Amino acid sequence: MIPIAKPTVGEEEIAAVAAAIRTGMLATGPEVTAFEEEFADYCNVEHAVGMNTGTAALHTALRALGIGHGDEVIVPAFTFIATATAVSMCGAKPVMVDVDERSYTIDPEEVSEYLNAKTKAVIGVHLFGQPFAVDPVAEICADADVLLVEDCAQAHGAMYRGEKVGGFGAAGCFSFYPTKNMTTGEGGMVTTNDPLLAERCRRIANHGQSDKYLHTELGYNYRMTSIGAAIGRVQLRKLDAMNRRRQANAAYYTKHLDAFGLNTPLICAGCTHVFHQYVTECTDAFPTNRETLMAYLLEKGIGTAVHYPMPVHHQPFYAGDPGVVCPVSDELSGRVLSLPVHPGVTEEDCAYIVETINGAEW
Ligand SMILES: Cc1ncc(COP(=O)(O)O)c(C=O)c1O
Repeated sequence: MIPIAKPTVGEEEIAAVAAAIRTGMLATGPEVTAFEEEFADYCNVEHAVGMNTGTAALHTALRALGIGHGDEVIVPAFTFIATATAVSMCGAKPVMVDVDERSYTIDPEEVSEYLNAKTKAVIGVHLFGQPFAVDPVAEICADADVLLVEDCAQAHGAMYRGEKVGGFGAAGCFSFYPTKNMTTGEGGMVTTNDPLLAERCRRIANHGQSDKYLHTELGYNYRMTSIGAAIGRVQLRKLDAMNRRRQANAAYYTKHLDAFGLNTPLICAGCTHVFHQYVTECTDAFPTNRETLMAYLLEKGIGTAVHYPMPVHHQPFYAGDPGVVCPVSDELSGRVLSLPVHPGVTEEDCAYIVETINGAEW
């Protein structure tokens, strides 16, 4: 079976975890500080603050930026739910807007349309490893005096006009969940160039503690563990090589897939796509439907997945706001199909997957 996702971890990570345990510092400690410094360096930002999940990173960054009750935050409707729930966790309202039909990332025109006096921030998601249209969105935010937050959960190492993601807005928020481009088990990171924001994130993630047992604001326990950081430090050293494997697998698919009606993903001008997912689109011209194709591939030992079968505005938790209209996200959720692209997928696997799809008769 070729799985749709598989973390690329091995003896180096095991040794690093064993060494971290031997130090006796199992919770936050010097290993986390070292990982934060290395990650900040990698992203070319001044500060990085370790968290225990990507959701915690988003929630903490938004809280640290002062997002709260009565505020609106614009988010794309086509993303993983946590982009929106992090806003709800602050007591603010996520305003879902549509995405561009070819890049699948937030549509700048939609951002302009939904901006209003209550809008405090826009979260752009670098979806599936592709940076969103940073320049137009950042310009809209700057003109409206609204904060820009990057959801980088799926885009470690992705670049926009030659610059790594994570430093374009007030804050960048990463996830290190095992299926991501790099992992710490569970984990997350906030990146920023603002020292005060970094300090506030650190405080919020540590019970709102400004001094030993002095709690000056509402906080949480969102701290990263030394064990996670030990895995993360090894993974960070391998990240570029792992991303190159993802890119090579993606390039092979795009070059060789030849199934009428099955669209391959676009790499936008100026973007370095790191292919967290390789997302095809089963259009109406494809001779069968997506579910039949998925079942057929499963029978042939090829794992696939749908990212995402339901846009955020239709999720039961958010449904019921008739004002949200996102036809592109609706259409995409019925068409998209992800093929295995992770670094564990070999050239032979890619060739087999392409042959299986191209040779199928419906
Ligand atoms: C776009 C996006 N945002 C946020 C998250 C939340 O990250 P985590 O699962 O680490 O909480 C994820 C990951 O699942 C994600 O894909």
